[in-house]
Amino acid sequence: MLAQKQKIAKNFNLSAKTYDNAARVQKVIGDNLFALLSDISLENKTVLDLASGTGYLLKKFPKALGVKTLVALDIAELSLKLSKKNHQHRSVSYITADFDCLPFLDNSFDLVISNMALQWSLSLDHTMKEIHRILKKGGNFAFSTLGEHTFQELEDLDPPIKRNSFLKMDTWRESMDAFCSNSVSITRKEILCDYSSFLDFAKELKAIGANTRSYKTRRGLNAKFRQEPLSVTYDVIYGLVQGVDK
Ligand SMILES: C[S@@+](CC[C@H](N)C(=O)[O-])C[C@H]1O[C@@H](n2cnc3c(N)ncnc32)[C@H](O)[C@@H]1O
Repeated sequence: MLAQKQKIAKNFNLSAKTYDNAARVQKVIGDNLFALLSDISLENKTVLDLASGTGYLLKKFPKALGVKTLVALDIAELSLKLSKKNHQHRSVSYITADFDCLPFLDNSFDLVISNMALQWSLSLDHTMKEIHRILKKGGNFAFSTLGEHTFQELEDLDPPIKRNSFLKMDTWRESMDAFCSNSVSITRKEILCDYSSFLDFAKELKAIGANTRSYKTRRGLNAKFRQEPLSVTYDVIYGLVQGVDK
């Protein structure tokens, strides 16, 4: 596995136990994502929660919905272990794997859903082709991710803090071409989150496993950063592909 991916897996494994308490934004986004499925019947369908983490979305698929098979996949083994413990009432197959190398046959799923994970893809074209490969003809794909304005406020701080780069909305739109569907929708909604200070923000990112080097507490951070309230934008992108073509 690439070193970069090992690091991603390691961070999410380390945060598995703190994720659920800290993931307030991710949960709101997951709720919005699931609402996109309101017109799609899940009766007797085979569903994959791609990069399912500790399993927030899984509880949205109660037995009453009639889903035939529910599979949860993630690169972070400890997150999946915790998910298994949290959702003992539900029959779910758990698979530790990389979304760039999905261990499924072609045409396996009716629905792939992925909340707040595809921004971790190192090659979006490749990841999207892989998702298309495992979807059945006529299947559906719903995802949420982060767009280019995410955390833009960090650059306005004095001194500025370098943020991760996030892909543009147009790049996400183009990536949906891989699904060859006439029914593709992509929307964006900004969420502004308030933090008591930069450190509070950095602490939350660490607790959800999204801490990369640039957000680690910097030794040179001045007292102002530690104390001043900070509002941070999550530029959220929601994508829905209905009726995948093959
Ligand atoms: C912010 S969490 C979201 C988890 C979950 N979907 C939720 O809604 O709470 C991002 C997840 O993506 C997973 N992930 C990152 N890169 C991955 C990859 N290449 N393959 C599979 N999972 C990956 C991480 O392990 C982590 O669980």
